[in-house]
Amino acid sequence: MSTTLSIENISTILVIGAGTMGRQIAMAAALAGYTSIIQDISEEGLAAARTELEGWAASRVAKGKLDQATATTALEALTYSTDLEAAAANADFIIEAATERLDIKTQIFERLGKLAPAHAILATNSSTLGSSKVAAATGRASQVCNMHFFNPALVMKCVEVVRHETTSDATVETAMELARALGKEPVLINREIPGFIANRLMGAIQREALFLADAGIASIEDIDTTARTALGHPMGPFALMDMVGLDVIDFIAQATHAETGDPADAPNPGIAALVAEGKLGRKTGAGFYNYN
Ligand code: 3HC
Repeated sequence: MSTTLSIENISTILVIGAGTMGRQIAMAAALAGYTSIIQDISEEGLAAARTELEGWAASRVAKGKLDQATATTALEALTYSTDLEAAAANADFIIEAATERLDIKTQIFERLGKLAPAHAILATNSSTLGSSKVAAATGRASQVCNMHFFNPALVMKCVEVVRHETTSDATVETAMELARALGKEPVLINREIPGFIANRLMGAIQREALFLADAGIASIEDIDTTARTALGHPMGPFALMDMVGLDVIDFIAQATHAETGDPADAPNPGIAALVAEGKLGRKTGAGFYNYN
């Protein structure tokens, strides 16, 4: 039943998960002129997404970076739903950005295999689970891949398109084209590897930064300053971890370590301790830094 969906045939994009990533991916799709649906099981999650996106659009308009008509059109193109069956029925391209748990994702992809039109491509935004883990459950493995966006997704240009062994060339091509249509610069990863490209590079920098701080060589402030002023990074590794969320950083390390067994990938005890204290970074007002 494999079909070739080309970019011209995509009009409706469904994003599953109204969290930090899902909501901004859906807004990027709406801004690019697509009918965009955010589906989440939580009404509160959908309401929070709507509030953030409406606020974001209003502030872009106020700053003169987005004209009012474009903002209004995009917000009207964006709908919110708790009903997966109805949301998937007319979707041409689906990007799953739900909780990073294999059991949850497998269940979602199994349902999507039944609910979405036969031509629909099913992508996951997962950074830790290669799409091969959920592809079989869909009954259309050749139309499944990873499409990994970066936080904040409305700003960051990169999308990692990751193929698994049976992802078709047509699926890869359409995913790359869609990323371009959303104003992104996609990169192709030819086979699954934990962390893909970006999180492996980020992980290496974070490990070194944590080593320097833990050994008392320099303060986290000075390590962050050095990353910015010597290397031109937009933010230092500690500020970045706080922005991504220390729970997410810890989870990525756990998942990567479980897969590789490499001691270098083991979660950092200092980060695990902050997570246990509820200090998850910017979203809770404290992490490596205080944000109050
Ligand atoms: N949502 C939407 N837009 C945002 C935003 C957010 N959360 N935060 C900042 N922006 C926008 C601002 O509106 C502004 O837009 P404008 O220039 O058009 O007016 C622009 O980004 C720049 O923002 P600021 O001037 O406030 O601040 P900065 O110049 O410091 O930029 C930043 C903020 C874009 C976050 C920049 O610091 C940066 O690029 N940091 C690195 C981010 C990064 O590495 N992300 C990847 C994380 S890893 C990941 O996501 C993978 C996952 O698997 C963990």
